[in-house]
Amino acid sequence: MVRLAPGTGDYNKPGKKHRSTDIQRMRLIHMTDPHLSSLEGHTLLSLRGKRRTGYLSWTRNRSHFHRRDILDRLVAAIRTESADQLIISGDLVQIGLGDEIRQAGNWLSELAPARQVFLVPGNHDVYANDSWAAVRRHWSAVLPEVTAGCLDTPDSGYPFVRDLGVQDLGVGDSGERGFGALRLIGASSACVRPVFSARGALGPAQLSRLESLLRESREQGFLCCLVIHHPHLPGTAKWRKALKEVKALQALIAAQQPALVLYGHLHHNLERRDGASRIYCTASASNAHDASYRVIDIERNSSGWSVRMQLKAIVGAIAGTAPSSGVLSSGVHFEVVDDQRWTVTQRPSPA
Ligand SMILES: [Fe+2]
Repeated sequence: MVRLAPGTGDYNKPGKKHRSTDIQRMRLIHMTDPHLSSLEGHTLLSLRGKRRTGYLSWTRNRSHFHRRDILDRLVAAIRTESADQLIISGDLVQIGLGDEIRQAGNWLSELAPARQVFLVPGNHDVYANDSWAAVRRHWSAVLPEVTAGCLDTPDSGYPFVRDLGVQDLGVGDSGERGFGALRLIGASSACVRPVFSARGALGPAQLSRLESLLRESREQGFLCCLVIHHPHLPGTAKWRKALKEVKALQALIAAQQPALVLYGHLHHNLERRDGASRIYCTASASNAHDASYRVIDIERNSSGWSVRMQLKAIVGAIAGTAPSSGVLSSGVHFEVVDDQRWTVTQRPSPA
């Protein structure tokens, strides 16, 4: 279990009131691409189709530096951060097998209460046609609900919205403006793709809903944080790994200017700015070379918000026989490698 700060993280707990200081500060943690599942028990011959190439990629290459013990160290570090929300932008598994997805579900249930985990799926989570049914079965606690009678697909219920601070401030429920509240918006770009493709897609319906949601949220004065697995910036991913609607989403974000955009998929730390938007990709949480997480502190003030982003990266893992094998030393730890502060002046637009 993640240790949470007293009085925070329970914003939506019925009947629970918090001190005003609690609702004015929120701490988000972004981690991504843990690729935590084991493929032990599976062989090349026991798999079919695209999973065979994925298995070879894992056993011959990626398993040498994605290590579960690195992820465990990162989670241990996160437990000391007193986070209100853990944001995970996908790729919890390797080839979307039901057994892997069950492992990841167990990991999620031990990580933190579901209401404090904000997750969007990645392409490895929706690797084959049978993957999504397993995701729905084992990760349901952290997925948006599907409307009765609607088809359950990887974009069902997305964009997924979680408002933080709204109820405590007494706004939102009655349709009042949400100035002072933080809105997490999760988009699902995960979809089944042919062999050698890691592309993502939102689809026209989700893209349209996302446009409306970002516009309305901006007009209502929410501080918006968009979470998606695939990057929306052209050129940051090769064509075979890129988001189908990359230009459309880039234009949407440029127009609506969410304060934060958090994504994964690229497996390295990257920052871009687009007007008032700060756009961050975080390295894989299990990579022995550069496992990282971001701590984002948001504090409300009289004119808007002050924001601090600290990037924390692993130090000391590349020594001796690591990263491909060997026992990690006790000296492995996470250090601040980037520390940024800025302010966001964001008020509701005139009615
Ligand atoms: Fe990944």
